[in-house]
Amino acid sequence: MKNYRKNTRIFKVDPNNMDRGALSAAAEVIRQGGTVVFPTETVYGLGANALSADAVAGIFEAKGRPSDNPLIVHVASQADALALTEEIPESASVLMDAFWPGPLTLVMKKKAVIPAAVTAGLDTFGVRMPHHPVALALIAAAGLPIAAPSANLSGRPSPTSGQHVIQDLMGRVDMILDSGDTGIGLESTVLDLTGPIPTILRPGGVTREDLYAFLPRVDQAADDTVDEAVPRSPGMKYRHYAPKAPLQVVVGDPQKMQEAIWELGQQYCREGKKVGVLVREEHRFRYPGFVVAAAGQESHPEVTAQKLYAMLRWLDEQKVDVILAEGVASEGLGTAIMNRLCKAAGYKILRV
Ligand code: TXA
Ligand code: MG
Repeated sequence: MKNYRKNTRIFKVDPNNMDRGALSAAAEVIRQGGTVVFPTETVYGLGANALSADAVAGIFEAKGRPSDNPLIVHVASQADALALTEEIPESASVLMDAFWPGPLTLVMKKKAVIPAAVTAGLDTFGVRMPHHPVALALIAAAGLPIAAPSANLSGRPSPTSGQHVIQDLMGRVDMILDSGDTGIGLESTVLDLTGPIPTILRPGGVTREDLYAFLPRVDQAADDTVDEAVPRSPGMKYRHYAPKAPLQVVVGDPQKMQEAIWELGQQYCREGKKVGVLVREEHRFRYPGFVVAAAGQESHPEVTAQKLYAMLRWLDEQKVDVILAEGVASEGLGTAIMNRLCKAAGYKILRV
């Protein structure tokens, strides 16, 4: 990865009392072709002018991201999204009315104004209107659509706080807008509308169950496309969201799952390893001797989602040698949580 040092300007922006000066400075950076990290309701985004191939090149460089993985275009209104769309599927307006602003990215045929650099050469693009006042104000002030991947270094968990962004991207971007913790904590749902049946390419903040209220059929793309030559969502083929320590997810009956984690953890301890566990709040005290990261009760998957990436980063900071994670039920938001856990584990999953 290129080693360079930019003079990164950091502004704290309170979403309830936005510093207009900071926003107009950030908008100016975007118009000049620079990079600005901004908060969204899901995770922080690393933004640049989506209509400029040069500006977008700055994103890939800052992140150390392979350029064959397309970026999401962020807009401040439905009209702005439609203006960039070549073919507008019937379901698009229904979904925009229902879920925008919000964590739903729609994949549609793009117009030529969006350079190939944004979409990794695809003739489709992913577009969403984020549900965050700072993101919307920035896009509006720039007067441009903003292309942005999650603002982490490639391969690191996505950033859900300004501090995570600073850890990863200080000196690599022109500006950071720090608005504290993000609300949802997992990335948007990516929904492909270009085929006959809408297909979830990446589960996220909007669940399949949510979509069923508005669509008669929703498919879920297979997630084990790691070895596929041309994955439908190019993001699928990369090992993502990885903590530094190897992670293993254990799934199954709750009692057996806990026993398996305990047994495995003891084994690692005997090998002299420092063991981290990522468990639900109710189980916090069941793993004495391990470094315990607890993220939300079983009945509150939204808390698990919100804390997941922060917990993975925290476990890294504790310098654990190995992480064992409790699986969650794959329904509702649990689908997205399991998707990220399994990716972070490089699909090392133990079923008990
Ligand atoms: O919540 C989010 O979506 C965050 C915030 C910043 O908006 N963004 C984000 O971007 O997660 P990124 O780049 O980390 O993930 C974008 C995902 C990738 O899996 C990519 O492959 C997929 O969206 N994607 C983007 N454009 C696509 C397209 N034209 N066709 C298929 N998949 C696409
Ligand atoms: Mg990402």
